[in-house]
Amino acid sequence: MRVLVTGHQGYLGTVMVPILQAAGHDVVGLDSGLFAECILGPAPVDPPGLAVDLRDVTVDQLRGFDAVIHLAALSNDPLGALAPEITYDVNHHASVRLAKLAKDAGVARFLYASTCSVYGSAGEELVTESAPLRPLTPYAESKVRVEDDVAAIADSGFTPVFLRNATAFGFSPRLRADIVLNNLVGHAVLTGDVRVLSDGTPWRPLVHAQDIAAAFATCLTAPVDKINCVAFNVGTEKNNLTVAQIAEAVVDAVPNSKLLITGESGADPRSYRVDFSAMRNALGFEAQWTIPEGAVELYKEYTSAGLSSDDFFKRFTRLPHLEKLKAAGILDETMRRINTSSGE
Ligand SMILES: NC(=O)c1ccc[n+]([C@@H]2O[C@H](COP(=O)([O-])OP(=O)(O)OC[C@H]3O[C@@H](n4cnc5c(N)ncnc54)[C@H](O)[C@@H]3O)[C@@H](O)[C@H]2O)c1
Repeated sequence: MRVLVTGHQGYLGTVMVPILQAAGHDVVGLDSGLFAECILGPAPVDPPGLAVDLRDVTVDQLRGFDAVIHLAALSNDPLGALAPEITYDVNHHASVRLAKLAKDAGVARFLYASTCSVYGSAGEELVTESAPLRPLTPYAESKVRVEDDVAAIADSGFTPVFLRNATAFGFSPRLRADIVLNNLVGHAVLTGDVRVLSDGTPWRPLVHAQDIAAAFATCLTAPVDKINCVAFNVGTEKNNLTVAQIAEAVVDAVPNSKLLITGESGADPRSYRVDFSAMRNALGFEAQWTIPEGAVELYKEYTSAGLSSDDFFKRFTRLPHLEKLKAAGILDETMRRINTSSGE
């Protein structure tokens, strides 16, 4: 299939593109390159891509694709809290616009990267896709709005599917340090402490970036009647752990590290345990990576690449990196690139 992947130069996109290519797909990217230079280790080989802001996409740029995988977003709760209107503009309005243009261009499938954080605070019970959505942040709210608005334009020729990914973990050449396992391992490698700022009790289901890529690859070729307008949780029940349990896996993976649960950030209301059976039953999809395996992988990659504190806390952490690009005059207040041409 000929597939357009938005956000192909992000953390997940950089892992997903080679997996789609290996499955035989012809991949083109679209990204404004906010994190294009945030690379740890050898540089990845990007597919041909459009250097375009999502808010400026045209219908002509979407013609000739069989599917769009839509990853591009401002993907960060703290950023969403600081600038909710920009988060809604990019994550909600531009995403719905993209879906409508894709439909107009004759694209048959639209695979959307949603999130399990749409469940917000859900207690101890396993939540299925039909559980009430209680988004607690503008980021999560923007994802709910896209699911609703894009489902409304589905028809026999346009099949949207909503992949509600658990929080990702694992190595990507375009690393993110602001997601829990990646963060805890990095902290442990750099300081010796596995530092949990909450009280450690929130449930936080995790899924490896490679498993997310495999889930999207599965939906690309799945029978239309099994995916049309369906929301799937993406992950595995074996990775439904509390933050404290995740931290213990990090202590086991990083030699001589010790656990510190400081509780300084107070209670974290974002807590949910997730049922992943729908995708398993409908499509036979099973996420493979466990959290201990991911912790060991990250430890090896961080140490072999010589991860530095500066990289970890600034370059690979979404908010400080974007602030730096703004201060340097590369991005404007709306996270739009200044003086960039559209298209490459
Ligand atoms: N990483 C996770 O834990 C996780 C979990 C669930 C869902 N998701 C979703 O998966 C998707 C990808 O996440 P990620 O971790 O790779 O995020 P990321 O921040 O690493 O990558 C996002 C990419 O989108 C691009 N982008 C942002 N705004 C853009 C714009 N206006 N125009 C064009 N490109 C733009 C960025 O340049 C970046 O390359 C997001 O939609 C995110 O919400 C991620």
